[in-house]
Amino acid sequence: KKSVKDIEVKGKRVFVRVDFNVPLDGEVITDDTRIRKALPTIQYLMEQGARVILASHLGRPKGEVVEKYRLTPVARRLSELLGKEVIKVNDSVGEEVKQAIAAMQNGDVLLLENVRFHAEETKNDEKYARQLAELADVFVNDAFGAAHRAHASTAGIAKYLPAVAGFLMEKELTMLGQAVTTPRRPFVAIIGGAKVSDKIGVIENLLSKVDTLIIGGGMANTFLRAQGYQTGKSLVEPDKVDLARELIERAATRQVELLLPTDVVVARAFEPTAENRVVTVTKIPEDWMVLDIGPATAAKYAEAVQKAATVVWNGPMGVFEMDVFAKGTEAVAKALADSPAITIIGGGDSVAAVNKIGVADKISHISTGGGASLEFLEGKELPGVAVLQSK
Ligand code: 3PG
Repeated sequence: KKSVKDIEVKGKRVFVRVDFNVPLDGEVITDDTRIRKALPTIQYLMEQGARVILASHLGRPKGEVVEKYRLTPVARRLSELLGKEVIKVNDSVGEEVKQAIAAMQNGDVLLLENVRFHAEETKNDEKYARQLAELADVFVNDAFGAAHRAHASTAGIAKYLPAVAGFLMEKELTMLGQAVTTPRRPFVAIIGGAKVSDKIGVIENLLSKVDTLIIGGGMANTFLRAQGYQTGKSLVEPDKVDLARELIERAATRQVELLLPTDVVVARAFEPTAENRVVTVTKIPEDWMVLDIGPATAAKYAEAVQKAATVVWNGPMGVFEMDVFAKGTEAVAKALADSPAITIIGGGDSVAAVNKIGVADKISHISTGGGASLEFLEGKELPGVAVLQSK
């Protein structure tokens, strides 16, 4: 794709779609990663003498002005990080916005209000997309995290303006793209999370690419059932047991090594204080539930990671929110950090795990996209990427 470096931006009004959908506690941003990751594109445009118009969504306000979803705290944080006052307006279109943009100097940065305050945004409404486009001369999409949405500010606007990728978008596409198209081998994928149904697309796509596929998290229970084990009161998707069996067979035919839990942590209830113990998968007690992978499984998974040249990880290995059932996920996070492989992490919980144990800087690439990275790994073309010009 063409990037912001391939076009002339001096003196131009550049509309940059960023993903500033950050977690907030009241007015306090609890994790500003997404803002910091957008800085290279913004700073480059400032240095080049562009007039930088930033747009983002925050939360899901459903087409109405919701005070707690205003981008005011984001503008404040961005001003601090840039060392320059960011102009903040109270809407994304209209007179006030037009006037503020007309008054911009080269190198200025302006942040529009949450685009989802207009219902037209998520409907990818043509008129709204055109109104956004009229504010600028060029469209830069740097919002990888929202690229799986075909919305007015991520896709629709590109119909009316030259459209190129920002640096973060470029980096995400390169890192994730190389991993799935030209991986250094052995290529190991670790897929976790609660449900098989959320990850079918990813598993199916990765089965034709990886050397080893590792399964953990609640979804592993459905695979254990497919292998014929009893799973007690564990979360299982009964209607996905046949599919799990088919995936196990497909892995065998393709000579993909499929690793499933051999021991698990079981508990009497879905509570952090519940009585718990480690059992092999052949001995899951009837009234207990599986809430994490066991230590032998974690060691086996870590060993596979140690031998890998490329590792992609999405989804926790257990009920990571509860410390007692977070050990499997933390072991995998640590294995990635200690591995010499190219390591790529997508999805909120896996990212939270590496942050929690303080090893984020040892990971080759931590994606800013949750849903977007998942859809990318499913092999889908993301609408916000499809609209960008090719080189
Ligand atoms: C995300 O947080 O994954 C992105 O910002 C997309 O948000 P959405 O799921 O509300 O579209």
